[in-house]
Amino acid sequence: MDKVMEMKHITKIFPGTIANDDVTFELLKGETHVLLGENGAGKTTLMNILYGLYQPEKGDIFFNGQVSKINNPNDAIKLGIGMVHQHFMLIDKFTVTENIILGIEPKIGLKIDMKKAINDVKQLAEKYAFNIEPTAKIEDISVGQQQKVEILKALYRGADILILDEPTAVLTPQEIDELGTIIDNLKKEGKSFILITHKLKEVMKMSDRVTIIRRGKVTGTVYTKETSIDELAELMVGRKVNLTVNKSEAKIGKDMLVVENLQVKNHRGILAVKGVNLTVRAGEIVGIAGVDGNGQTELVEALTGLIKPQDGKVMLDGKDIFNKTPREISDSGVGHVPEDRQKRGLILDFSLFENSILGLYHKLPFSKGIIMKYNEIRKHSQRLISEFDVRTPSDEVTAGSLSGGNQQKLIVAREISKNPNILIAAQPTRGLDVGAIEYIHKRIVEERDKGKAVLLVSLELDEILSLSDRIAVMYDGNVVDILERKDADERKLGILMAGGTVKNDKEVRDGE
Ligand SMILES: Nc1ncnc2c1ncn2[C@@H]1O[C@H](COP(=O)(O)OP(=O)(O)O)[C@@H](O)[C@H]1O
Ligand SMILES: [Mg+2]
Repeated sequence: MDKVMEMKHITKIFPGTIANDDVTFELLKGETHVLLGENGAGKTTLMNILYGLYQPEKGDIFFNGQVSKINNPNDAIKLGIGMVHQHFMLIDKFTVTENIILGIEPKIGLKIDMKKAINDVKQLAEKYAFNIEPTAKIEDISVGQQQKVEILKALYRGADILILDEPTAVLTPQEIDELGTIIDNLKKEGKSFILITHKLKEVMKMSDRVTIIRRGKVTGTVYTKETSIDELAELMVGRKVNLTVNKSEAKIGKDMLVVENLQVKNHRGILAVKGVNLTVRAGEIVGIAGVDGNGQTELVEALTGLIKPQDGKVMLDGKDIFNKTPREISDSGVGHVPEDRQKRGLILDFSLFENSILGLYHKLPFSKGIIMKYNEIRKHSQRLISEFDVRTPSDEVTAGSLSGGNQQKLIVAREISKNPNILIAAQPTRGLDVGAIEYIHKRIVEERDKGKAVLLVSLELDEILSLSDRIAVMYDGNVVDILERKDADERKLGILMAGGTVKNDKEVRDGE
């Protein structure tokens, strides 16, 4: 196969960070080449350079053997490059067609020829078997469909090389399969793909070759057929990692958290949790699966006192904690690893020792009356740091100076140190590297084995499947089904997450 594009010896420096360090990367015609690396490895930066959004300090980009200067995205588009960013760039109030033609509208005289535009989009969508309505508004279609619009937008501009940045992060397993089919069809036409991801299973399924980046440097380029998940993980992390979670049979105890008919409005005043019933027992991990935005966030925020619920009942070990303050709920025995660790979990300008007693500072042994006992606080923080392997020069540095993985370890350490009856962990490993994920999973399972109840909310199905004893699926503000772990698999969960139902193992789509 021919090389269509080569990036040679690319170095990109941001203040304090070498995001790309002498990176060489080549793309063959008709291949799917995955760019694999942990968070912050430099993947997006490299692709932003290819798309003309950044200029490298060093290095050159070649197209069909010729050096090309890419000063801006327009230059990139002229070279046949299309990029679908991790956060879509569509205009919500515009239609599918208006978004696709934006900036290159077909015209009759001075007026936009909307009839031709709609027809063009329709034909393009049909050609690639995209099920897209050209006149639908972006705000009315699913995230999976919005992604297709982004792809069509790139194709409409004549892209031959498509860069997709973390394209599967927002999709259900079925939508991921669909994306795979779309990519295969486009490859048959000679298009080439660069997929950015940190998910190893998808790499194995979706790619022809993989280039792995660690801390800005390429650690290898391999053929997918000749590699394994374990090898890729090692190239990505720099050491062997244990990707499977070892856990024994759950020893189920009493009902710890009982939620009945809970209703919660979101920040815009719309009912986001529409009557959830859920029980979490001592000694088990209940996972909540769902596509982002189906009420999971509001459920957790209501359970932990961060937003006021409208109606319902929440009991913790027989005690009413409905609509109590975060302090009261925490004191009743709820540990909370929040979804947004930088906003809710830590005070970034405070030292680690101050952060280690957030939610605990009013208690013995850390204070007595209004006197803070700094000796005890420092002992506590240093114990957490060593026990939970928080990598830091001392407990005096600010929380903001730690990496995401170490910030998260500190939060998990603090919440577990409260010895709660239930640990509510929301997206506990989002954005973390594989090493930190491995560690946090181990500690969560340890809590369960100590007889604690654990409620885990995660957008990562792999995480839900490897940790949970039971799995509740949320869709449109409701828990639509609760499965025993042994009865759950990716396919079934995917159907439920998309609003379908599973009866006797057969899929029943909405409205059938
Ligand atoms: N615009 C920017 N300014 C400063 N630093 C940045 C910028 N973009 C990325 N970085 C830093 O460069 C490194 C690589 O980031 P990125 O390319 O986004 O990684 P990835 O996509 O692999 O997660 C990170 O340390 C990140 O903080
Ligand atoms: Mg990125």
